[in-house]
Amino acid sequence: MRLSSGCLGAAFVLAVHAQSNSTDTVDPASVTVPDTTPLNSTDVVEPTDFNVTQALVDMGVNVSALPVAQLAERSSNAACSLACASLQLLYGSQNVDYSNEAAYNTFTSGYWSQIQENVDPYCIFKAPNTGAVTVVILLSRLTTCPFAVKSGGHAAFQGASNIPGGITVSLAALNTIKVSSDKKTVAVGPGNTWNAVYTALAPSNLAVIGGRVAPIGTGGLTTGGGISFFSSLYGWACDNVASYDVILASGIQVTASPTQNSDLYWALRGGGNNFGIVVNFNYEAISLPGAQLWGGTRVYLEDQFDALASAFAGVVEDSPNDGNAGQWVAWLASNGTKIASAELYYAKPNGGSAAIWNDYNALTAISDSTQNRQLPAYTAELASSNPYGLRETYYGLTVKADESLATLARDIFYQELPATANVAGANPVLIYQGITLPMIENMSKNGGNPLGISVSDGPLYLIHVACWWDNASDDATIYAFITSVLNQIKAAATSIGKQNDYIYMNYGGVYEDVIKSYGAANKAKLKSIASKYDPQQVFQILQPGYFKLDRAPVVDSRYFSG
Ligand SMILES: Cc1cc2nc3c(=O)[nH]c(=O)nc-3n(C[C@H](O)[C@H](O)[C@H](O)COP(=O)(O)OP(=O)(O)OC[C@H]3O[C@@H](n4cnc5c(N)ncnc54)[C@H](O)[C@@H]3O)c2cc1C
Ligand SMILES: *[C@@H]1O[C@H](CO)[C@@H](O)[C@H](O)[C@H]1NC(C)=O
Ligand SMILES: *[C@@H]1O[C@H](CO)[C@@H](O)[C@H](O)[C@H]1NC(C)=O
Ligand SMILES: *[C@@H]1O[C@H](CO)[C@@H](O)[C@H](O)[C@H]1NC(C)=O
Ligand SMILES: *[C@@H]1O[C@H](CO)[C@@H](O)[C@H](O)[C@H]1NC(C)=O
Ligand SMILES: *[C@@H]1O[C@H](CO)[C@@H](O)[C@H](O)[C@H]1NC(C)=O
Ligand SMILES: *[C@@H]1O[C@H](CO)[C@@H](O)[C@H](O)[C@H]1NC(C)=O
Ligand SMILES: *[C@@H]1O[C@H](CO)[C@@H](O)[C@H](O)[C@H]1NC(C)=O
Repeated sequence: MRLSSGCLGAAFVLAVHAQSNSTDTVDPASVTVPDTTPLNSTDVVEPTDFNVTQALVDMGVNVSALPVAQLAERSSNAACSLACASLQLLYGSQNVDYSNEAAYNTFTSGYWSQIQENVDPYCIFKAPNTGAVTVVILLSRLTTCPFAVKSGGHAAFQGASNIPGGITVSLAALNTIKVSSDKKTVAVGPGNTWNAVYTALAPSNLAVIGGRVAPIGTGGLTTGGGISFFSSLYGWACDNVASYDVILASGIQVTASPTQNSDLYWALRGGGNNFGIVVNFNYEAISLPGAQLWGGTRVYLEDQFDALASAFAGVVEDSPNDGNAGQWVAWLASNGTKIASAELYYAKPNGGSAAIWNDYNALTAISDSTQNRQLPAYTAELASSNPYGLRETYYGLTVKADESLATLARDIFYQELPATANVAGANPVLIYQGITLPMIENMSKNGGNPLGISVSDGPLYLIHVACWWDNASDDATIYAFITSVLNQIKAAATSIGKQNDYIYMNYGGVYEDVIKSYGAANKAKLKSIASKYDPQQVFQILQPGYFKLDRAPVVDSRYFSG
């Protein structure tokens, strides 16, 4: 632990929020400005006698001057009242929002899914620097007020990145984007969205392996996996991070890379929010001249459906021959008419005539927007078909690639679809993507990842149901519908020996046990790494939301869990 008595800052200028009670008796001159950088130690393992108060003192925080010093009043609400009031004293009211403030509502309406918008945290903490991430973890530990962490806010279910009654930590201010001097890596803060990253890199003819839709956060997408336009060339986002800078439960910042804390590096490549808060991703840079690629949407009617399923299967199979190509296929009904759309993309301009598209090019589409694209603008266009403010779920599974399943899963979906006929605003969509062989091969780079996917499984299909709808009173109908679809797809796959356990965290539903799906050995290894870096289970207990090491976000046996 760094001894930073020299870091006790200047007296903080108090801006006490009118609503917060516990700050009234504080002497402003006693409150000191915390360090802007996290704690630092060569010993990454938290000692058994770890002293949270001392760690805060080491951060330059005068704990005895803060509301948290009055810990006698412990109870969930009092704990959060004290923690939030302390954050406000340390970082100012501009960085701490309470429910009676306009800024609070502006913030909560910035989640993609209404289900997360409807959550009421005790306060929102806009961490102004990485040191503040250390301080909020330590204050949560000191008070036992729970927290959640938001990057882009696209996780769809309650508690994932907005916590009822706790501290919701916004990483938005951690928005550095910096190309290394040798142009081989790009340091990206978790406050960035992909559009911002690609826009910043375009003038250098560079890109990184990240999301395909503009407002998705770097934080959630990368810690859960991350399928990119370029993934059959380079692999997933999590497999293209040269190093992570992560703040552990003890508040210290460590680097995880193939050579430093390599066990933590392995765990972060898909292990989600269970190990620490990543404050910087050092992505491997790729060359993308002019930020140009090719892509767009083709829409088909039912007479093309069988040929479309076959074209999808063919491109997954052919990926080893041309990794520039990528695709997803969405099956849906519009005003009672079955339609399907294929998003086709290619990592270079003028990709539409590549041989890998031959089967697609033989289909008859009712509309076609494929064309040369600029990467940032392409992500922005794709965002327009994913509106904010609706109830949302993603909920899925994986099967081994097999053309007959591409047809069967679609038929099962349409057969069950009438179950949603009376749900106001429902828009269920069945989405197929490939986990191609080149993606899987690249998962073994730099010591591998914990996802439990191996080349011997062959290529896989990721199948998920995405749905938005209007009313909470219809939630059970939607989850039951999807459960029925997924159970039948899984049974069909099992009956022909094509079952696969993997559940992709980034498309995981609230009832799915994602970490279990990585396999018993990977799960055990993840738990052992967590017990080393987070022995008191701070990221399991005090950050209870999202996919934890030993459970689904919500356990409910009525619904599909994997
Ligand atoms: C419209 C849309 C398009 C999508 N497109 C793609 C796509 O192209 N490819 C793909 O793979 N996925 C895609 N997804 C899925 C997406 O990757 C997940 O929803 C992901 O969780 C979103 O990340 P976020 O940062 O926006 O979400 P958040 O809700 O902010 O975060 C999700 C989880 O990650 C945790 N987390 C966030 N940042 C950090 C951090 N720095 N350190 C530790 N934990 C952190 C949060 O605490 C939370 O539990 C898409 C989703 C949507 C809704
Ligand atoms: C202030 O105290 C009142 C009553 O004691 C309580 O209802 C309110 O929630 C507190 N406000 C904050 C921000 O803690
Ligand atoms: C810390 O706070 C205490 C109690 O308010 C105060 O007496 C002390 O002077 C403060 N220390 C510093 C360095 O400001
Ligand atoms: C940690 O401390 C070492 C030694 O003082 C220093 O070289 C390094 O830059 C520090 N790291 C951080 C993240 O502050
Ligand atoms: C923890 O550190 C604080 C601040 O230095 C100190 O007052 C307290 O006695 C320590 N607690 C224990 C259990 O050592
Ligand atoms: C669906 O039908 C309604 C009413 O006929 C029409 O207004 C709307 O544009 C249609 N939507 C689509 C997507 O075709
Ligand atoms: C939600 O449900 C209520 C009652 O079931 C209904 O009155 C209302 O119209 C629904 N809202 C929408 C937007 O459909
Ligand atoms: C990653 O995929 C590319 C494209 O298929 C391939 O050339 C490369 O060998 C793969 N890398 C690894 C480490 O498997």
